[in-house]
Amino acid sequence: MPESVTNTKRAAKAPGLLSNSGTTAIGKANKKSTQGPVITTKSTDTYHPGSLLSVASLNLSDISHILQLAFELDSFSVKRRSKQLEGRRTALLFYESSTRTRTSFELAAKQLGATTTLVSDKSSSIEKGESLKDTGLTLRALGAECIILRHPSSGAPAQLARFTGLPVLNAGDGPHEHPTQALLDLRTMLANGIGYKGPVNARTYEGHLNPTTLVKKNIVIVGDILHSRVARSNALLLPKLGANVIFCGPEELLPDHAAQIGPGVSIERDFNAALRSADVVMMLRIQKERLAGLEIDLNEYIADYQLNQTRLAAHAPKALVMHPGPIIRGLELTSEVADGPQSAIEEQVRHGVAIRMAALVRALGGKKKKTKGERK
Ligand code: CP
Repeated sequence: MPESVTNTKRAAKAPGLLSNSGTTAIGKANKKSTQGPVITTKSTDTYHPGSLLSVASLNLSDISHILQLAFELDSFSVKRRSKQLEGRRTALLFYESSTRTRTSFELAAKQLGATTTLVSDKSSSIEKGESLKDTGLTLRALGAECIILRHPSSGAPAQLARFTGLPVLNAGDGPHEHPTQALLDLRTMLANGIGYKGPVNARTYEGHLNPTTLVKKNIVIVGDILHSRVARSNALLLPKLGANVIFCGPEELLPDHAAQIGPGVSIERDFNAALRSADVVMMLRIQKERLAGLEIDLNEYIADYQLNQTRLAAHAPKALVMHPGPIIRGLELTSEVADGPQSAIEEQVRHGVAIRMAALVRALGGKKKKTKGERK
């Protein structure tokens, strides 16, 4: 195990960036750390209503609708599901690596009968310097009706939505937000009896998702909070349902001001103490690619913050263990915990497909009506 991990490179700068100011990310006070460039948008900007850019903009009715839709689509027969977006065209535009998000969006779109095309920064004209705007306009001209965007810059999905007028689904923008991840995390919690004991079905979401659904539930999020869009989206989403979000980690990765992100969020530096209160413990990867010179002593980090079986059994024998992935076994958690009975890590991945189906149906509004010319 190396003593420290250092990445002096700035996060990849995407072409076509407009601004480096107006940060919305948790890490604004830490000058050493990079957030990736931040793209600003005017608060008056309007976007296609099917866009899913952040959880901050979702109210409880939106959240219920997405979870209900996910449940319904998941319970449809294969044939019925394949009719929902028959013939619709989606584009996956990825400027950063991804396994879970990219694959689950692709599988979700295909199950619904939509076509997908993948454009990656590594094998497209983005490599030649084409801007985000021109890439988006090109995809629109080619017939894309919805763009799923992952980008290293906070605010890029909002910009793309403004440039193209298309529904844009944020698949993770720098350290800003990862809305579908937070929604699939919520779905995983509810499915595991966190906050709701009855059968989880479409009516669960319709009738029972309210500001007290997760009241007195403690969701402990541990590790590299500073660079985590997942921590941010969960901290903005879960308190809307009454949950307490407790951030836990060393000061380098969790500055004190992170608790100011919103109501219901606090900080506990002592991992064992945080675990003793936890209904859910969500572990995060150290994002080496975003550390930008910040040095972390990994042996110290492991001693203080690794989730191992001894620690879990001693302090949180009933808590649900979650992780958005990718997991680094032996660093933030051990294999024993990742593969153990309290782990919901694979289940999270499975719930991702249904949530992304719902996001796509919400974006595209169902099967396209044929025009007069197409009917002939
Ligand atoms: N959770 C998550 O976003 O994973 P990927 O980077 O593999 O998509």
